[in-house]
Amino acid sequence: MAWIDSLKRRFLALAERALKAIPIVNQRIEREYDGMMAEMETSLKPYKGMFPAFTQIPEIGRERGTILQEMEAMRAREESVWKEGFVSGAVYHGDAEHIDFLNQVYTINSQSNPLHAVIWPSTTKFEAEIVAMTADMLGGAGQDVHGTLSSGGTESILLAMKTYRDWAREKKGITDPEMILPVTAHAAFDKACQYFQIKPVYIPFDSNYRADVNAAKKAITPNTVVIIGSAPSFPHGAIDPIEELSELAHAHGIGFHTDACLGGFVLPWAEKLGYPVPTFDFRLPGVTSISADTHKYGYAAKGTSVILYRGRDLLHHQYYTATDWPGGLYFSPTFAGSRPGALSAACWAAMTSIGAQGYLDATKRILETAATIKEGIRRIPELRVLGDPLFVIAFASDSLDIYKIMEAMSRKKWSLNGLHKPSCVHLCVTLRHTQPGVAEQILNDLQEAVVYVKEHPEEKGTMAPVYGMAATIPLRGVVSDMLKRYLDLIFKAS
Ligand SMILES: Cc1ncc(COP(=O)(O)O)c(C=O)c1O
Repeated sequence: MAWIDSLKRRFLALAERALKAIPIVNQRIEREYDGMMAEMETSLKPYKGMFPAFTQIPEIGRERGTILQEMEAMRAREESVWKEGFVSGAVYHGDAEHIDFLNQVYTINSQSNPLHAVIWPSTTKFEAEIVAMTADMLGGAGQDVHGTLSSGGTESILLAMKTYRDWAREKKGITDPEMILPVTAHAAFDKACQYFQIKPVYIPFDSNYRADVNAAKKAITPNTVVIIGSAPSFPHGAIDPIEELSELAHAHGIGFHTDACLGGFVLPWAEKLGYPVPTFDFRLPGVTSISADTHKYGYAAKGTSVILYRGRDLLHHQYYTATDWPGGLYFSPTFAGSRPGALSAACWAAMTSIGAQGYLDATKRILETAATIKEGIRRIPELRVLGDPLFVIAFASDSLDIYKIMEAMSRKKWSLNGLHKPSCVHLCVTLRHTQPGVAEQILNDLQEAVVYVKEHPEEKGTMAPVYGMAATIPLRGVVSDMLKRYLDLIFKAS
């Protein structure tokens, strides 16, 4: 029951605050944080002592050659992990020639800024065409679909949620907006709720890890401004029942957002290849916006995504205009003011150089590799694949600690994503994994990791208990504080 859960959460938060107010408890928690962060510092700050560090601008500028040498050394160290395919997601293309080409494009356009459309009409041409090509790919051809570029999936989602909030306030007078979202929707939606004071109303997933449509039906109130569905979801790679959810939204005059950040540049090609892909795009009349990330399977450099809307009216609620500012007439389509036009140029260059045939071919290779990995994991008796995903493969274990398996994999160089509720890990398959031998290696290493964990039940591991605790501890404020300490550590300069 949702209200019991909510009551439980509020009670725990209260108990947690009361506990932390006791000095001895607080000191103990602080000591634990310090211990944990000291352990993490070694892996997060490997360059300490290896390269010069700065907390002040150097008095005399350094030699450019030295700076380039240092960066090359860091690149070489970091590249070996993602280049060989040991990473889940993160780098979606990564072939040397493609990267060199994007770098050339960046160099040509490095000074451009679409905020100054008159100075750089090339950039605005690139952006308008990226939006048009993406809309066309996502069922928007011949329809009233418009959009903008953003800096990434999270920004596209934040923009869309702000848009629905403002649209509902203006059109329906809703001042306490609510968003219905599956618990598996990306955290960016919860972030939008926090930033824009929208109430999140969570719905559970079914046995196939897809959003529960009946729960969505029951969750609708006069304050609901938007319903969310993922195609597919980040955690389990499941495609939500977008058709049913968007029909529901349509029938109630509510917005419906398809989060295709991950799948936007895979599913259209998968459908053309004959995979059973449910319709998730603007061909469904109830779908009123879509986020699709060019910097993932669009194979652009990091820093671009597309946000699309049905109808200019919605889009106009995203735009910002200032008419009385002494700085002059000011307007911007997204949160940023100045933006890196070079990234838009590189995105346009990626899309137009790869072309439909290139995307089809890449998708074919990714889906075939993912199928090999999925079937291989299914053959390991101690592991269980969650649902029947196409290219994001989440797996759990009913007999072993999955986080210990993840840790054993990290000792073999693999960087998999640890998830919780339920405890599992996932691999987001990219072109990096389609290189010869990578799928076989991951399956061999997984098999060995399983055997290792089985034969060493006494070993607690280093990160596995942290994951385990973070997944199960009822005091979520403690976990949240720990994550804030982690962010502090990331920004620690010396
Ligand atoms: C389904 C989904 N939505 C949104 C995002 C957020 O994208 P970004 O990390 O580019 O902000 C991701 C990232 O993995 C995702 O998988």
